[in-house]
Amino acid sequence: MEQELLLKMEKISKAFPGVQALSEVDLEVYKGEILALVGENGAGKSTLMKILTGVFKKDEGKIIFKGKEIEARNPHHARQLGISMIYQEFSLVPNLDIATNIFLGNEPTRKFDIFDYERAKTEAERLLKMVGLGVSPDVLVEDLTVAQQQIVEVAKALASESELIIMDEPTSALSKEESERLFGIMKKLKEEGISIIFITHRLEEVFAVADRIVVLRDGRRVGELSCEETRISEVIRLMVGRDVRVVPRVEVSSDDVVLEVRNLSRLPMIKDVSFSLKKGEVLGIAGLVGAGRTEIMRALFGADLKTSGEIFIEGEKVEIQSPNDAVKMGIGLVPEDRKFQGLILIMAVYENISLPSLPFMFSNGIINFEKEYSLAESLVERLSIRTPSIFQAVNNLSGGNQQKVVLAKWLALKPKVLILDEPTRGIDVGSKAEIHHLIDELAKEGIGVILISSELPEILALSDRILVISKGRITKELKREEADQETIMQYAII
Ligand SMILES: Nc1ncnc2c1ncn2[C@@H]1O[C@H](COP(=O)(O)OP(=O)(O)OP(=O)(O)O)[C@@H](O)[C@H]1O
Ligand SMILES: [Mg+2]
Repeated sequence: MEQELLLKMEKISKAFPGVQALSEVDLEVYKGEILALVGENGAGKSTLMKILTGVFKKDEGKIIFKGKEIEARNPHHARQLGISMIYQEFSLVPNLDIATNIFLGNEPTRKFDIFDYERAKTEAERLLKMVGLGVSPDVLVEDLTVAQQQIVEVAKALASESELIIMDEPTSALSKEESERLFGIMKKLKEEGISIIFITHRLEEVFAVADRIVVLRDGRRVGELSCEETRISEVIRLMVGRDVRVVPRVEVSSDDVVLEVRNLSRLPMIKDVSFSLKKGEVLGIAGLVGAGRTEIMRALFGADLKTSGEIFIEGEKVEIQSPNDAVKMGIGLVPEDRKFQGLILIMAVYENISLPSLPFMFSNGIINFEKEYSLAESLVERLSIRTPSIFQAVNNLSGGNQQKVVLAKWLALKPKVLILDEPTRGIDVGSKAEIHHLIDELAKEGIGVILISSELPEILALSDRILVISKGRITKELKREEADQETIMQYAII
C-alpha cells in the first residue's frame, strides 16, 4: 500500500547565537502514522517542532504540508493550517473551564461575534467523549490532574480539526496507567487518519505506540528506523553514537546516621513518617504518583510547614521552618518541577548554579566572580550540560539540560543530604546513565541521597534501601536484596 505523504520538512536549518540547533534536517510524516522523534537532550527535537508550528523562524529549508508549501507565522496560524502542538509545558489557562480552553482562539460564534458558550459546551462534550475523558466541560482546568490536562490539550487539537498533532514529552509527568491511556487515545486518532509526532525519552513508549522512528543527533538527522524491524539498543546507539553501559552500584556501608526523621506529619496528607538515612546511603522512595512522596520531602525541606515531627541532622535536633533553614543545615532538594521550583529562567547558567552558594562566594565583601565562574564551569563539565557557555540564559537550554542545571546548583552547595525528586525525568538515555553514575559517586563521597522516582528499575538499580509510600505513610521498608518490582507494587497499593 502506497502511503500518503502529509508533511515533508526539507533541509531545515536553524542557528541560535553560539549553537547550530538544526542542520539540514529532513522529516516526513505520512497520513495516519505515529512518528517518534528521538534524540539526546539538546539534539534539536523541540526546535524542529517549534519551527513547524511557527514559534521559531527557520534559517533555511522548506516545509510542505498537504502538498503545499507553508510557513506558519505562529502556533495559532499553524493550528489553522491543521497542525497542533502539545507542549512540554502546558498552555491551558488554569482558571478557565475545559470548554472555554478547548475553544480559546477558535471560538464558535453566533451572529455579531459573540462567543457561543452553549455550543462550545456541547461540542466540548463530544470531543471529551472521543478522547475518553469523563469530566464535565464546565470543570475548571486547575481542578484537573496533569494527565487530564494533557487529554484536554488533545481535545483542543481535535477541536481545530488538526491533521497533525505534535506531542513533546507528553508522558513525562504521567503515571504508567495514565500514559497507557494516552497511548490508547493516540492509536484511536491514528485510526481516524490523524498523524502524530511523538517526542519522548522513554524508548519503551516508542515501541509501544510508534510506527517509525527518526533519530536526531547534534541537530542532524542520523537515521530512520521502523519499529517492527529494530530494537531499543539500536535506537540508543544511533542517538548517542556509542553504547551506553549501566554500571551497577557498589554499596557504601557506613553506620553514621546523617538524617533522622521522627513522626513527621503534615495533615491531612502525611501521617507519622519516621526513617533514618546513613552517610553514603541511597534511600529510594517508591510509590504511585500522588502517594505523598514529594509532600513528605517538601515537609522535611521546610517548603511546606509540617504539623508535627522532629528532624535530626548528625544526631542534633534541628528546626526547619523554611527551605533556607534546610539549606543551612546541609539539605538540598532537587525538585521535580524544574520550570517553577528550581530555576530563574532569564538568568545565566552560572548565576543559577551559584545562586544558593552565593553566601560562600564573597571575599572582602565582594563576590569572587572567578570562583563563581570556575564552580559553574566544573559542574557544567561534570554533568555534561550542553550550552554554548556558562553565560547563556537558562531559558535557551533544552528541557533536559535545564534539569541538569538544577542538579548542578545543588551539587555546588556540597550538601550532607541530597533529595532528588524524579532526577531523570525528561533526561535522555545517555545522560540518564551519567546521572546514575553521579548518584553513585555522591554516595561514595559520603552524601546521604534520598531518591524519589516513579521508574522502579531506576529505584531498584540505585537504592541501598527502599521505603514504599502509600497514602502519605510508609507501608514497607525493603533492603536492596528483598526488593523487586512486584513486592514494591504490592505495598504501593495498600
Ligand atoms: N531560544 C533559544 N535560544 C538559544 N538557543 C536555543 C534556544 N532554544 C533552543 N536552543 C538550543 O538549541 C539546541 C536544541 O534544543 P532543543 O530544545 O531543540 O533540544 P531537544 O532535542 O528538544 O532537547 P530535550 O530533550 O532536552 O528537550 C540546544 O543546544 C539548545 O540549547
Ligand atoms: Mg525538548
